[in-house]
Amino acid sequence: MENHKIAIFASGNGTNAVRIITYFQEKYPKQIECSVWSNKTHVPVLDKAEDLGVKVHVFSRKAFSETNEVLQQLKNEGVTFIVLAGFLWLMPKHIIETYPQRVVNIHPSLLPKYGGKGMYGMKVHQAIKRFDEAKTGMTIHYVNEDYDDGEIIFQAACPVIFDDTPKTIARRVHILEHAHYPKVIEKLLLGEKVEHYHVFL
Ligand code: GAR
Repeated sequence: MENHKIAIFASGNGTNAVRIITYFQEKYPKQIECSVWSNKTHVPVLDKAEDLGVKVHVFSRKAFSETNEVLQQLKNEGVTFIVLAGFLWLMPKHIIETYPQRVVNIHPSLLPKYGGKGMYGMKVHQAIKRFDEAKTGMTIHYVNEDYDDGEIIFQAACPVIFDDTPKTIARRVHILEHAHYPKVIEKLLLGEKVEHYHVFL
């Protein structure tokens, strides 16, 4: 594994961020360094990252998309790869263009279904329940300038059962996310082919 600095953009609970950080801390303690970047000041992901000894950055909308400030900081820190894990703002063009095929996102549905602006987190699982879907899952994809629209890298599916609630669906999807996101990122960093397959829990 080459040396990499992964910037994890997250604005919520941070369970995926924690999985990614601990996976790389354990497996590649010398080669890979993670940092956490957030647009919110009072979110659990920041405390969790600090507890794991990871540097955190908080930024404003202006610094992120109206100026080059965040991009400049990413460059100054030597960031080589960007991972979105529960981050809801659109990535600005100037960041995507600086990191071609190096910005990935995770989404809690089988895209293109249940994606797009306003479809995130529990809203997705509520819609899955409302429309009585028989299966759901998660998607890892490259990020472009639209919501949940970039090339799909990997998907994993799980069933929805009759007495599921949005909360139990979320729990099942989170299990898939935690199991696969760090490994897919690892393969991308290693330049290995990612098999785009479905898994049924
Ligand atoms: C994850 O389920 C992720 O797929 C979703 O937010 C959750 C964050 O959970 N992302 C989106 O909905 C993006 N459109 P976490 O903070 O516990 O990792």
